[in-house]
Amino acid sequence: MAKQIITIALAKGRILQQTLPLLKQAGLMPEEDVLTTRKLMLDGPRIGDWLVRFLIIRAADVCTYVVQGAADMGIVGQDILLESRPNVYAPLDLEIGRCRLCVAGVESLVREGMPKRGTRIRVATKYDYLTAQYYRRQGLQSEIIHLYGSMELAPLVGIADRIVDVVETGATLQANGLIEELTLFHISSRLIINPASAVTRSLMIKPLIAKLREAVHNQRKKRTP
Ligand code: PRP
Repeated sequence: MAKQIITIALAKGRILQQTLPLLKQAGLMPEEDVLTTRKLMLDGPRIGDWLVRFLIIRAADVCTYVVQGAADMGIVGQDILLESRPNVYAPLDLEIGRCRLCVAGVESLVREGMPKRGTRIRVATKYDYLTAQYYRRQGLQSEIIHLYGSMELAPLVGIADRIVDVVETGATLQANGLIEELTLFHISSRLIINPASAVTRSLMIKPLIAKLREAVHNQRKKRTP
């Protein structure tokens, strides 16, 4: 019987597929197939006296579970860390989930260039904080149209002048006749740690970070032989 449990929150969706090879390489695979199971809490390996347990949750909720201490560690996109600025340690760039946080819009509007200083601009996004901060720095007033997904639709139906969203391949922008205006941040996924767990459970957390760091290193070597 494992004496202690260490809990890792994993984000559902596109990051999860890229997370699995890292977990496998680090010897941290869940016992069931996370891509097909409907279970949200899965056991992983036993390491000494410890049982590794996984929570499978929405990317936007990973920080909440880690901040609350329901998970000791988590894997989450840096876009979410930049937007919500949670009180967590982020010691490791996992070099997966690479994308960019971009401003984009309808081609004709983007070609006109940035509106004059002092102008009001309507921006559809789920990154309210980063968007408002960016436009404030440009001397523009932004009206944030908060959406939860399918941002690319907003300029097409006339409710926004721009979107701020993640772009990976650019296919969604292209399919909807939008073009990128600029990149705000280059994004990848990060390992995050609850600060209290980092102290009280360092005996397990430190080796886990080391395993994942080595897995990142090995995956990098595979990509660039
Ligand atoms: C994300 C993002 C874009 C799209 C970009 O959406 O919001 O819509 O991916 O990827 P691409 O550049 O490779 O086309 P996601 O599919 O995660 O769903 P969402 O709209 O619910 O956020």
